[in-house]
Amino acid sequence: IHEPQSQDSLLSLSVDSESLQKQIDELSTLSDTPAPSVTRILYSEKDVLARRFIKNLMGLSGLSVREDAVGNIFGRWDGYEPELAPVSTGSHIDAIPYSGKYDGVIGVLGAIEAINVLKESGFKPKRSLEVIMFTSEEPTRFGISCLGSRLLAGSKELAELLERTVDSQNISFFDAAKFAGYANHLEDLTSVFLKKGSYSAFIELHIEQGPILEEEATSIGVVTAIAAPASIKVDFEGNGGHAGAVLMPMRNDAGLAAAELALAVEKFVLESGSIDTVGTVGILELHPGAINSIPSKSHLEIDTRDIDEKRRNVVIEKIHQSALSISENRGVKLSEFKIVNQDPPALSEDLITMATESACQELNLTYKKMISRAYHDSLFMARISPMGMIFIPCYKGYSHKPEEFAAIEDIVNGVRVLALTLAKLSLA
Ligand code: GLV
Ligand code: MN
Ligand code: MN
Ligand code: MN
Repeated sequence: IHEPQSQDSLLSLSVDSESLQKQIDELSTLSDTPAPSVTRILYSEKDVLARRFIKNLMGLSGLSVREDAVGNIFGRWDGYEPELAPVSTGSHIDAIPYSGKYDGVIGVLGAIEAINVLKESGFKPKRSLEVIMFTSEEPTRFGISCLGSRLLAGSKELAELLERTVDSQNISFFDAAKFAGYANHLEDLTSVFLKKGSYSAFIELHIEQGPILEEEATSIGVVTAIAAPASIKVDFEGNGGHAGAVLMPMRNDAGLAAAELALAVEKFVLESGSIDTVGTVGILELHPGAINSIPSKSHLEIDTRDIDEKRRNVVIEKIHQSALSISENRGVKLSEFKIVNQDPPALSEDLITMATESACQELNLTYKKMISRAYHDSLFMARISPMGMIFIPCYKGYSHKPEEFAAIEDIVNGVRVLALTLAKLSLA
């Protein structure tokens, strides 16, 4: 028989800030580029070591650990009504080239620490609590964002696509996964899918990756919605040739086609009339890449997002039309125009945001409701579970660069809010 628990004992939740900071620092050393930058690419040696580090911490916290076919890692603390759908929390630990050490990481290490403080406080969960480390939130290696959570949410398209996906070194997804000890059979990928209702709630702790909380000296952001991301791959092909000998009227320069399209992306985004529309050309490659050779091939990858899905789709359509007309005007071939993903936005669930707001009030922390302009695994978990997110301030809003920084005091606040929110959701 379990007495209804008072949550008062939870208000003094004491986070072990020293060991949490040590874990963050130690994980950051598992990187393919020198500090302060972090680069941790899916299924690389460093990623495998980092996964081991996380599984070990989960074990030390008394969680039972399970991994699925693509390496999503689950650590479960059984509740006293284990047949109820569990409450889950988590994030990612992969890091784009030359990024920082907090993006994703605090949502994994912070979640494990939240479990530790709940255990120490004597709390007994009713619903089981589960910490999830998602595989490849970042699109770095295979060009697909939120790979693990997309599959968890049941994306058949992705399961099929992965059978023919290779990285830039022509290593197949399956060979890469095997290197890390996963996905031995093709049919494995559908085994990753989770049914809707597998969790009663999912909540992710993350740095804001924007400047608002810091500027306003607010401790916690309660996320109400996640903006809609999309990404596009484009290839142009021309005849190339000698940079001295081929006269200007005779050229069909694939590099200039790419440059023109990059500027067009900026123009279309600005034309949307909303500050919420953004577009970035983060990858632009020219072949053969010699100063005295007219580019015969160019490759662009375009990221565009908006909180308003329709407005973002207008931008995508304009980019497509522009790619077609540039190709015609310049006499270059548009050999690929591929929309890699075109995802809708996601809304947080009131029940979860309300639990987080009460947690902030009880812990005497200032908070504000806000949208997430970055995407997260939460965007996909929202397809199978009620979803919420907790943001903490980060220095000047810096992210996806080595200067990314979050103060341990702010991380600790986030962990306490997460722990109390998990406790509430577990008893709900
Ligand atoms: C994820 O890292 C994003 O680009 O929002
Ligand atoms: Mn990121
Ligand atoms: Mn992230
Ligand atoms: Mn992200």
